[in-house]
Parts: sequence; structure tokens; C-alpha cells
Amino acid sequence: MYDILIIGSGPAGYVAAIRAAQLGMTVACVEKGFVGGTCLNIGCIPSKTLLDTSLKHYKLVNEYSEHGIEAKDVRIDLHKMMFRKEEVIKQLTTGVEALFKSNKVNLINGSARIIGNSYVEVQSDDGNTKLEAKNIIIATGSSPSELEEIKIGNHVVDNEGALKFQTIPKSIAVIGAGVIGLELGSLWSRLGSHVTVIEAQKEFLPMLDQRISRQASREFINQGLDIKLGCETLKVKENSNGLDISFNYKNEEIALEVEKIILAVGRKPNTKDLFSGDLLTIDEKGFIEVDEYCQTSVKNIWAIGDVVRGPMLAHKASEEGVMVVERIAKKEAVLNYKHIPNVIYTHPEVAWVGLNASQLEEQEVDFKSGYFPFLANGRALASGESIGSVYITADNETDKILGLQVFGPSAAEIVQQGLIAMDNGVTSEDFSKTIFSHPTVSEALHEAILSMNNKAIHIQNKKKIN
Ligand code: FAD
Ligand code: NAI
Repeated sequence: MYDILIIGSGPAGYVAAIRAAQLGMTVACVEKGFVGGTCLNIGCIPSKTLLDTSLKHYKLVNEYSEHGIEAKDVRIDLHKMMFRKEEVIKQLTTGVEALFKSNKVNLINGSARIIGNSYVEVQSDDGNTKLEAKNIIIATGSSPSELEEIKIGNHVVDNEGALKFQTIPKSIAVIGAGVIGLELGSLWSRLGSHVTVIEAQKEFLPMLDQRISRQASREFINQGLDIKLGCETLKVKENSNGLDISFNYKNEEIALEVEKIILAVGRKPNTKDLFSGDLLTIDEKGFIEVDEYCQTSVKNIWAIGDVVRGPMLAHKASEEGVMVVERIAKKEAVLNYKHIPNVIYTHPEVAWVGLNASQLEEQEVDFKSGYFPFLANGRALASGESIGSVYITADNETDKILGLQVFGPSAAEIVQQGLIAMDNGVTSEDFSKTIFSHPTVSEALHEAILSMNNKAIHIQNKKKIN
């Protein structure tokens, strides 16, 4: 009997497995696909690898000449670009396998199904095996949502297909201006595809402070993404070359012919055939119901990552894995769900944590805010990365930082700095006194904090202070 049996080896499952082994437990991890799950194989890592290559190409073609760097006959070797992506994936997934080995985690290939409180049946090419465990952790992740009217096929792909194109499509319609749509749309647009992003909602990235979402939308449109918001009655028909698309946009019927469609309309939790009968409760969106510690209604069965409520993010999944395993080991682990950072890896990046200004207003929180544009930051100007700005909010009464939203260079890293302050209850006054290296883009965070208390040096403050 195992102490812990984990179903799925994505960032939720593999991190839980390694931490459990470190704590001295006997662990098995069952995986029906590839070690590393969505994140390492068809998500975070391959998308960021290709995004980085495409950005280098985009800058060489469009931006380096202003630095006096001229490049002629720039061409992209798609085969080499994809080969490099596969090598990065291999390096990381073999790394996880090696960690499993050194930590004595038993990796079992096969499809798992929970057949009782402590029993799992694994179906593999070698037949069916019944395993027993004191604790079961479900980490089966998520899959792309589909649309009734658009089926995945030769010309219609999801994230997996869009990371494997063999040639650069001349034209792409991306359905959904969410995180995947913007990242994968940017990737192919930078390589020369004409990309139309078709979004049902009227607002662009509604989770962002409106000032940030406006800046981001303007910049992405400048870069070539044809973003259409508030689209209705989408229809798709296959033709001999690709696809005919029609939809209603601003009361007009738009017709497009495209080579490919990338479907990016959200993801759904993987729970199909996962357990017998009504052993566990599934909510109306298909997520396994758990409490704040990821414990299901059966006390020795836990569920973590994309298969449960909360943002579908690799770092959230991994931290849930650590929390659950530590709780099984009787440690006091908790996770602060209010402080999960988010990043969209466009260029510039969009990153945020905590509540935005309108959410704070809705909750009638008495708050102050600070702002700083990268246009007034020396390092950003020096490197030609001066688009965007930093917005920060703090509680008027306690002076503690409540939220941070950044659109600009190294946005993800800047938000992480703010989050360390938030997690440790640092006040804006304390944070103002921290010395930031010059010249760095992080100085924009410092100045935004200073501006919150009308002490900014490099922009005009809202009101004069003594
Ligand atoms: P998964 O990674 O999906 O892993 C689940 C594993 O369980 C899979 O390997 C699956 O084969 C296995 N499994 C399922 N059912 C069974 C079964 N019955 N038996 C055995 N095995 C089973 N997040 C970020 O934080 N940053 C990013 O930059 C980012 N980029 C992304 C880009 C794309 C294109 C996509 C699609 C997602 C991205 N995400 C990103 C989200 C991230 O990939 C997920 O949040 C994360 O992978 C969830 O981890 P998980 O372990 O819960 O599930
Ligand atoms: P999403 O929820 O971010 O965006 C989906 C978009 O599709 C929404 O804007 C929605 O309004 C739109 N949409 C839905 N139905 C539509 C329709 N019929 N027509 C037009 N638009 C429609 O989901 P996405 O982009 O698929 O990503 C899934 C998850 O993967 C995200 O929740 C995210 O957490 C995770 N992810 C994270 C990344 C990161 O952290 N950088 C990168 C990629 C994915």
C-alpha cells in the first residue's frame, strides 16, 4: 500500500510527488500521457519557447534598425525553431523523470480510475492493475473547451496544434482574446501570419485595470493583431483552401477567409471516467469540489491544480500540491489564494496580482493608488521598451499594498517584487524606503509607490507635499 497515490504528473502532480517523497512517504504517480502534463509538453514551456524565438525575429525585423542594427534577408527556419522547442521540453521532462527516480517516486504509465476510497485501477498496455493507497491525490488537469459550431480538424486547432504548425499560416483567426489567444496570436503574428482575434466579450481583458487594458489593447493592435471585441453569431465553413468565417461585429456582418483557426475559448477540468458512481462531488462547471485545503468530501481523497476551482495556472497547481502533501504529513500548510500572480507573456508582458481599482471600489475599500509610466524610466527608454506603466494600490488605513498591475518590460518580475511585499505585510511607506538599483525597470515600481504618497520624483505628483 502506498502512502500517497497521485493521478497525473503535471505541475500539480509531479511537485506533490516529489515533496511527498522528501517527507519520507511512499509515492506512486500514474500518468496516461506525458510526464510534465500540459505545462511542460503543450502549454507553458513550449509556448514560451516559441514566443521567445518569435520575439527575437520580430525585433530583428521591426525594431533593431532604430538601434542602428541593420539585418538583411532575415528568414525564419521553422523546423529549427520547432526542434529547439522539443529539446527544451525534453530537457525539462527528463529532468522530472530523473527527480522521480532519485526521490524514489514510482512512475506508472497508464490511465487511472478511482474505484473506492483507497483503491485505484490502472489501465495500461499490460492490462489492469489494482493499487491501494492511504491517500489519493487527483491532479488530472484540464483540456481545451470546444464550441458546438467549430470542431478541431485539419484547419482548426487548439493550443496543442497551434504549437506544432509545420508552415507559417498566411492567415489565422484566433477565437477568444484570453490568455492563450493573445499569446498564440502574438506568436504567429510576429512570424508574419495575419491574425484576427475574435472575442465574444465587449471588454478587453476585463480582469485588468481599465487603464492597463486600454494600453495593452492599443499596443497589440499596433503590433498587428486585428482584435475584434463583442463578436456574435460566429459561423465557420470549410473550403478547399481553409475556412470561411462569418460573424457579426458592431452590427455589421464580417466575412473572412483564413488558413487556420486557433480555438482558445477556455479550458475544462478532466474528470471524465475518473471515479466510480458518485464518490466525489462535481460542481456545475465540472470541477471537483474541494475545501480551501483541496480536500474532497472523502477525507483521504484530495484534488489539486486545474481540476479544482481557482485560476488555471501552473504555480497555483504546484503550490496546492505542496500544501496537500504537507497537510497529509500533519503540517500546518495553507495557501493564500488572494495573492496568486498572473502573467500574460505578450510583449510587453501583462502581469497583475491582488484586486484592481474597480474591484476595490466595488468592495468599498478605502484605498490610494500610484502610477508610473515606463516612458519616464531611464532603463526602459535606453532599451527601447518604454511602452506601458505600473499601477499600485494600498489601503488608506493600514498602508498595506493591495494590488499591482503592470504592462511593460519585465512586468512579471516587477509584480513578483510587489507580491513579496504584499505577502509580508509591507506598507507603502516602508516600501518607499527600499533602495532600487539605477537604472532598472524596477525603479518604475518604486516611483509608482512614491507617487501613491505624492513623493514621486520623475513625474508630477497629484498634490504638493511638504
Ligand atoms: P496538467 O498539466 O494538465 O496535467 C495533468 C496530467 O494528468 C496530464 O499529464 C494528463 O495526461 C494526466 N491525466 C489526466 N487524466 C488521467 C488519468 N485518468 N490517469 C492518469 N493520468 C491522467 N500556466 C502558467 O502558470 N503559466 C503559463 O505560462 C501557462 N501557459 C500555458 C499555455 C498554454 C498553451 C496552456 C494550454 C496552458 C498554460 N498554462 C500556464 C496553464 C498550465 O499549463 C496549467 O495550469 C497546468 O498545467 C495545470 O497543471 P495540472 O498538473 O493541474 O494539470
Ligand atoms: P481564457 O478564459 O483566458 O479566455 C477565453 C476567451 O474566449 C474569453 O475571453 C472568452 O470570452 C472567449 N470566448 C469564449 N467563447 C467564445 C466564443 N464562442 N467566441 C468568441 N470568444 C469566446 O481561456 P484560454 O485563453 O483558453 O486559457 C485557458 C486557461 O489557461 C486560462 O484560464 C489560463 O489560466 C491558462 N493559461 C495561462 C497562461 C499564462 O499564465 N500565461 C497562458 C495560457 C493559458
